Amino acid sequence: MATFTLPRNSQIREGKTWRAPAGAKNVRNFRIYRWDPDSGENPRLDTYEIDLDACGPMVLDALIKIKNEVDSTLTFRRSCREGICGSCAMNIDGLNTLACLKPIEDIKGDVRIYPLPHMPVVKDLVPDLGQVYAQYRLIEPWLKADSPPPPDSERLQSKQERARLDGLWECILCFCCSTACPSYWWNGDRYLGPAILLQAYRWIADSRDEATGERLDQLDDPFRLYRCHTIMNCTRTCPKGLNPAQAIGEIKKLLVERQG
Ligand code: SF4
Ligand code: SF4
Ligand code: FES
Repeated sequence: MATFTLPRNSQIREGKTWRAPAGAKNVRNFRIYRWDPDSGENPRLDTYEIDLDACGPMVLDALIKIKNEVDSTLTFRRSCREGICGSCAMNIDGLNTLACLKPIEDIKGDVRIYPLPHMPVVKDLVPDLGQVYAQYRLIEPWLKADSPPPPDSERLQSKQERARLDGLWECILCFCCSTACPSYWWNGDRYLGPAILLQAYRWIADSRDEATGERLDQLDDPFRLYRCHTIMNCTRTCPKGLNPAQAIGEIKKLLVERQG
C-alpha cells in the first residue's frame, strides 16, 4: 500500500491566476484545487479565466480546455465523457458529481472544483481509490453458484427477477455517494459505505446467485453495514439517480427477516 502525505487543506493558499485571452467576452472563473505531494507545499487554489464562447458546455469540457490550451500540469481523471465510466467524479460547486454531466450554465458565479472529499489525494483532482476498491473486492462482486448452468443455455431469469436489479446495475462506481456520506468520512476504514453496499445488494438481489446467506453473514457487522444512519446524502448526490440508502435498507431488512 502506497503511503501518502495528506494535504493540509486548512491551509489552502491562493495560487496563480491564468488570464483569459484579450477580447474574450464571456469569461468565467474556474477556481481549481491544486496539490502536488512531491512539491512539499500546501494545496492552493488556481484561477483560470475561461472564455465560455470558446468552450464546450460541460465542466469537463472546461477542464480539458485548460489542460490542452492553458496549463498542462492540471491533473484529473476522465475517459468516456458521457457518464458511463465514473472516472471524472469530483466536487463541483459544493456537490459531488460527474464533471462530464455537469453543465457550466447550471453554476452561478465562479466554478469551484475540488477532488472528492475525505479521500487521500494523489494529485490535484485525482483521489486515491485504493481503500474503496479493496472494499469492493471484499464483497466478491461476481456471480457465485455451485449448481451447474443448464447444459444448453445460460442461467435464465424471469422478467420479474431481472427487474429486481434495476436501480442497481446502473451504478458506475464513481464514489460520489460514499464520499458524501458522513459515516464513511469518519469510519471509512471499517464502514463499507453506500457505493459498496449498493454493489453488495446487487448480488444479493440476483436470483441466479446462490451465496446470499454467506453474503449476508459478511455484512452482519456493526461497522461494515450498521454505520449507515440513513442521513441520505448518498441518494441526494448520486449523479445516476440511484438510491444507495434504499439498497442499504433492503440489506438490513433481510438481516432482520432471517433472524425472525
Ligand atoms: S444513508 Fe447511510 S450511506 Fe447514505 S449518506 Fe446516510 S449514512 Fe451514508
Ligand atoms: S450509487 Fe451512484 S453515486 Fe454511488 S457509486 Fe454508484 S453511481 Fe456513483
Ligand atoms: S468521463 Fe466517464 S463518467 Fe465522466
